[in-house]
Amino acid sequence: MTNHPAAGPVPPPGCPAHAGPATAVSDAGPRAAVPMYGPEFAADPHGAYTRMRATFGAIAPVELSPGVYASLVTSYQLSLEILRDTERFAKDPRGWRAMRDGTVGLDNPVAPMMMYRPNALFADGEAHVRLRGAITDSLDRVDPHALSEYVERSAETLIDAFASRGEAELITEYASVIPLLVFNQLFGARPADGPKLVETMMKLFDSGEEAAAANDELLHWISGLLAEKRRQPAADVTSWLMAHPSQLADDELMQQMILLMAAGTDPEQNLIANALRLLLSDDRFAGELSGGSMPVEDALDEVLWNDPPMANYGTRFPRYDCDVAGVRLRKGDPVLISYAAANHEAALASDRRSGNRAHLAWSAGAHRCPAERPARVIASVAIERLLDRLPDMELAVPAERLTWRTGPFSRALAALPVRFPAQATSRTGPSAASVSESTRFDETSGGSQWNPVPSFSTPPAATSPERQPESQQAARRRLLSFLTAWWRGQ
Ligand code: HEM
Repeated sequence: MTNHPAAGPVPPPGCPAHAGPATAVSDAGPRAAVPMYGPEFAADPHGAYTRMRATFGAIAPVELSPGVYASLVTSYQLSLEILRDTERFAKDPRGWRAMRDGTVGLDNPVAPMMMYRPNALFADGEAHVRLRGAITDSLDRVDPHALSEYVERSAETLIDAFASRGEAELITEYASVIPLLVFNQLFGARPADGPKLVETMMKLFDSGEEAAAANDELLHWISGLLAEKRRQPAADVTSWLMAHPSQLADDELMQQMILLMAAGTDPEQNLIANALRLLLSDDRFAGELSGGSMPVEDALDEVLWNDPPMANYGTRFPRYDCDVAGVRLRKGDPVLISYAAANHEAALASDRRSGNRAHLAWSAGAHRCPAERPARVIASVAIERLLDRLPDMELAVPAERLTWRTGPFSRALAALPVRFPAQATSRTGPSAASVSESTRFDETSGGSQWNPVPSFSTPPAATSPERQPESQQAARRRLLSFLTAWWRGQ
């Protein structure tokens, strides 16, 4: 039996003397649930997972945002079992009890990550097989060499924008932009559309006042692209999705393209940033970096084990009340998989070596990430180009002073400031200094309205109260101006 502080003393996990009827995590109520939305959790999630495991065993009661309760699975084996068990657990969140009875509203900060959308991520059974088939078959046609080349070109452009400054904030100016430029290319849009897509998506991720207009812009952009590819198909993901035997209708195509972008942007940014943090701060990598060999693949593996970009997700909804690991899970109450905690447990139990990829960072079962291969290519090329161009780069603040974004789902740095010897001239495009700081890209942040596009990051509302520092907003304005000028050939 798993017990909770609210219900008396806590027995050791699995203690036979305390065997008895399973306790429903949802019954534990507010007093027992571990909050996963504040700065305390963000500062030391592994400490929290260890305490959860010691107190509750394999499944802990958690609070995802104030008043939103769920069960979090922290055991590797149990995570695998649940992710593969489509008979007891549904992915479709339309049975989510708290959303059905109005306890959790659409404006809740965790709603964008958990509410239903007509896409593969939230589908079960045949509907899922059909939508996912179109996605996997289309992604499989992406040529990894062409992808590498494109990532390299995008990386060079972005590095040009800050190389002469001797400093940069790598989340805003690099890691968050590369995935968007790559999607622009993968979808077969015109290169000149890249800056506009970056601007639109940044407004969406900010969830500020401009988010609703940006959502319309995105839908308009995708429908224009569909019309263009209908007239003239080409070798790109949009055309492959359209030609797939699943015969997706236009609104289905649109939803899967939005899913690809939403699912690919934030985790990709965090994979790049978390690996850069490790490479720039861990002595084990320092010698190898200056020696010219780049252990980027090792750093990626280590991040995927220790700081997986999707830390807690894989939301499932029990189709009926069931007892799992001595815990009663109620029909319609969300169960999340802690990929981070499960990895940690597995790593402790095994002699983990470089190259061991048995972690759950890409999830498992029917909804396992279909983009592992391209996602790794994007991250490794982006990191290698940066370290190759600016080999003497170092963190501008000690690693332990870097802060993490709050929120239960992602392991995401709030900022990654670096410095390096300034490069006198950029290789391509306009010099960063020549781009005016006062541009039309006036960003807002910190709004709490519901983000109409499914994002893999929690919008900055109750769970992420901090506003972006001024320097990040300035960096973003500068970057967008630079990109626009670059694509216009100025
Ligand atoms: C090119 C970049 C990426 C794309 C296009 C992408 C796309 C997707 C899609 C479409 C799904 C839903 C699959 C389904 O429901 O059948 C998914 C799931 C997932 N992706 Fe990715 N992804 C990308 C990068 C990443 C990265 C960098 C990570 C983290 C290392 C990641 C981790 C996951 C996980 C954990 C899931 C399962 C979601 C869940 O827990 O329910 N993805 N991805």
